[in-house]
Amino acid sequence: TDMSQSGRHKVVVCRDLGPDAMSLLKATPKLDLVVWPHDRGCDRTWLLDNVPGSTGLVVMLTDKVDSEILGRAGPSLKIVSTMSVGYEHIDLKAAAQSGLKVGYTPDVLTDAVADLSVMLALMASRNIGIATALAREGQWPNHPWSPFTLCGPQLSTIASSPTRKVGFVGFGRIAQATLARLVPFGITHCLYSSNPSSPTNHERDAELARAYKLQSVTKVDVDELARESDFIFVLAPGGRDTYHIINEKFLKQMKRTGILVNASRGTLVDSDALAKALREGWIWGAGLDVVEGEPSVTIDHPLVKEPRCIIIPHVGSATLETRTAMAVRVAQNLIAGILGGSMPAQVDL
Ligand code: DGY
Repeated sequence: TDMSQSGRHKVVVCRDLGPDAMSLLKATPKLDLVVWPHDRGCDRTWLLDNVPGSTGLVVMLTDKVDSEILGRAGPSLKIVSTMSVGYEHIDLKAAAQSGLKVGYTPDVLTDAVADLSVMLALMASRNIGIATALAREGQWPNHPWSPFTLCGPQLSTIASSPTRKVGFVGFGRIAQATLARLVPFGITHCLYSSNPSSPTNHERDAELARAYKLQSVTKVDVDELARESDFIFVLAPGGRDTYHIINEKFLKQMKRTGILVNASRGTLVDSDALAKALREGWIWGAGLDVVEGEPSVTIDHPLVKEPRCIIIPHVGSATLETRTAMAVRVAQNLIAGILGGSMPAQVDL
């Protein structure tokens, strides 16, 4: 039945969004909410069964929104609202063809992910995976303090090592927020590479360098970025354009003391190449919040087995404050998308 004819709108919600966002949705007149009742990823069959006749659809990055789902939803569907800044799980072309609006959650998670990126850089460089395992396994007595045990490369500058170059693969909101956090560490140079089709913004770069008292902020190609950077942060969107940007060639060019952090999408990094790079000592360490093929990352995964790899299960935005803000943004996008009015954050299709 086409609910919109009755003036009501069916909204399929693939996960409980928590009290703030759910009460916003419940307080909106004329919405009939159909909410996935479990505290785990929504089953695709449940979604396929429930999506017909809906006006709005709320998804997570784990829910694939493809032409099958859109076809099943039918012409009543007006808006897809995702609780993520990334949207490679949504077939945007099909969405555009169906005349849909797509809402997402940029900005509200920028700081949380930038915080975590710095954390991963510190953890990977300071051997924190190995160090915490040692303490937990009762090995501390066998490893008392000694001059060079568990030493690693330092993120901050020091008089004897006054230059620190950080590289960003992707230089959007999260990368720039990460850069801002690194300034007090005394970093001296910022290199970045980004979408080749986006024009170089020399003025912005000069302004950043001035504001942060850096010797330079420079757009470079990925080879130069790999060669020159002490710490590399991968913070670019997923999808076909960025697939395996970090590959064997890239990793071979990195410094042997180099650190690689990925807090964007697993698909940007070739996992086998990275495992080899760590195993053979091409680079010092890696900090990963995302891994290609997640969540199927088990203890026999080559990266999980690498002691120099800090690996955590996609928790970049997982602060109480940020997840609440994301959920509220999802509800606001959805409500605006259904009732008309401008959405707080809409993807350009
Ligand atoms: C996103 O929003 O795309 C992140 O991966 C999860 O917060």
